[in-house]
Amino acid sequence: MQIKMENGAVAFPFSVKINSVTGKMDDYDTHIERSLSTLVSIFSDPDAAEDFLEKNGDTLAYEVYEKNIPEVNGEIRFCSSITYPGKIGNEYFMTKGHFHSRLDTAEIYYCIRGNGCILMEKKDGNPILENMYPGRVVYVPGYYAHRSINIGDEPLISLPAYPGDAGHDYKSIEDNGFRHIVVEKNGKPALLENPRYGRMGK
Ligand code: F6R
Ligand code: MN
Repeated sequence: MQIKMENGAVAFPFSVKINSVTGKMDDYDTHIERSLSTLVSIFSDPDAAEDFLEKNGDTLAYEVYEKNIPEVNGEIRFCSSITYPGKIGNEYFMTKGHFHSRLDTAEIYYCIRGNGCILMEKKDGNPILENMYPGRVVYVPGYYAHRSINIGDEPLISLPAYPGDAGHDYKSIEDNGFRHIVVEKNGKPALLENPRYGRMGK
């Protein structure tokens, strides 16, 4: 049976398969590909990102497959999120990260493959880093900006799920960045202050 939502969107039952090796979703509606060249400014050392591109050429940093589930209260949107391994200097490849436009909406990430973490930061307060490895579920409460970070050497694949009406606010992260960065130090991930916090867009 189809359910007509207040705004006219229609949700109907379905199921999809996410390939646990590649992260590709069957029958997806939208496929977002983020190449490194479009992400230079998210890194704490953008010059190092430009050097990487000059030496290695462009590469896919992360991608997302999703179904067009209505963006309304009551529905749950989900996707397959794939972040590839790599580093700019010592800083790991990661997603842009965002707040939800409806700040009070939460999210869960179920990790399917790889080794990584989710960095979570409220507008004030301490950063929280939760580990991601197959079978691990990370809960992102409302009010926390969040991003996936691949600290391993294989694709980090997860299934994020979040309220249909959460929406995405990328601008404050684009302008300011996260207050912290995750870098490799002595062969291990370390959480450091972001030297470019507050002026990422500049
Ligand atoms: C949705 C969510 C994830 C991310 C995905 C890509 O609210 O948090 O599905 O959208 O991991 O990351 P961004 O959105 O930061 O480019
Ligand atoms: Mn989110």
